[in-house]
Amino acid sequence: MSFKEQIQKENIPQHIAMVMDGNGRWAKLQGFDRLFGHNNGIGTVRQITEAAVEIGLKYLTLYTFSTENWNRPEREIAGIMKLLVENIEKETPTFIKNNVRLQVIGDIERMPKDVAEKLKNCIANTSAHTGLTLILALSYSSKWEIVKAVKNIFNDVKSGKISEEITEQTISDYLETKDFPNPDMLIRTGGEVRISNFLLWQAAYSELFFTDIYWPDFTKENFYEMIVEYQKRERRFGKTSEQLK
Ligand code: IPE
Ligand code: IPE
Ligand code: MG
Repeated sequence: MSFKEQIQKENIPQHIAMVMDGNGRWAKLQGFDRLFGHNNGIGTVRQITEAAVEIGLKYLTLYTFSTENWNRPEREIAGIMKLLVENIEKETPTFIKNNVRLQVIGDIERMPKDVAEKLKNCIANTSAHTGLTLILALSYSSKWEIVKAVKNIFNDVKSGKISEEITEQTISDYLETKDFPNPDMLIRTGGEVRISNFLLWQAAYSELFFTDIYWPDFTKENFYEMIVEYQKRERRFGKTSEQLK
């Protein structure tokens, strides 16, 4: 039986967040340039988005470009930006066909103008969709997001817009992810076992999954296998097993 068939329909996670890692090493292993890996990574993005639609997932967040990735060689950054420009518009009809809504978290203003414009168009053209919400984390890092939130909270307290009573909810409301539930699953491909500044606040109670498979090789069945594994785990949120029964 395929992993897809083993998924229990009544216990589908609401939100899956993914660190799409391993493009560069995947390419190098075959003697190609890192950009060849990013290029092939696009195919996996398409596959996993489709897989998410097929099981009725509500939210999928993909870590696409981190704040720290701006420190990469200029040529690689330019290549990644070019891929974004070429593919955002190209994918829009598929998003429309599949009822997918595109959203972005991160510092969009830091993206090149043409990328920001294509993103804004795609967001506007898919905003009414009610199926999967696909969230691209672009020029995103958790620490950047938290610093921004703290600054905004400080300003809003100073101007009297909000009270001085700061709760967990206040902080959540000032993060880029304010409109989305916390991820139930956090998956990282590519063999590294770290978070790399991704959703630090939001992943407080996410189930973590790591695989050695490089992102361009990651398949729908690999994705479904992790969901099957997720459904076997007991999420206790600090309680005892008995309390959950
Ligand atoms: C992830 O793959 C994609 C981005 C960070 C943009 P990498 O480019 O980090 O690939 P590796 O980890 O070097 O193999
Ligand atoms: C994390 O991958 C960022 C993205 C996948 C977009 P990196 O390859 O940049 O992370 P590190 O440098 O290995 O921690
Ligand atoms: Mg990497």
